[in-house]
Amino acid sequence: MAGRITLTMIKPDAVAKNYTGSIVKMIGDAGFRIAAMKLMHLTPVQAARFYEVHKGKPFYEPLVAFMSSGPIVAALLEKENAIADFRELIGATNPANAAPGTVRALFATDVQRNAVHGSDSDENAIIESDFFFSGLERY
Ligand code: CMP
Repeated sequence: MAGRITLTMIKPDAVAKNYTGSIVKMIGDAGFRIAAMKLMHLTPVQAARFYEVHKGKPFYEPLVAFMSSGPIVAALLEKENAIADFRELIGATNPANAAPGTVRALFATDVQRNAVHGSDSDENAIIESDFFFSGLERY
């Protein structure tokens, strides 16, 4: 059965452009419950750990630099079928391929500065949620 949680980050490009409120509204309007949320500035070491699965890929080092370049908003979201529904809401990784009306079509700049992250599996949603939030921070 598909899981009920996904982990999102509003990335430094979108936070810097003041899109946080608009993106959070789209998330709420799509039926996701916010179980935890925080604004924070990742260190390069923290960003490298979060994206460790991509280590060795050509975009890894620039991605780590970008993700530690300014504050992000991390949130733990709950909904039936959370992973697939959230990925539909945000659109394709490359905003050039994102469907009209999706978060990335509206707010992303390019494939790296793509406004938001969404977990790609139930297993990673748990790992990524544990990265950001203790039990005391979840409601
Ligand atoms: P995200 O969903 O956070 O997962 C991995 C991130 O790596 C992705 O969004 C992009 O920000 C980045 N990424 C993926 N593919 C590329 C690419 N081809 N070039 C640059 N960045 C990429």
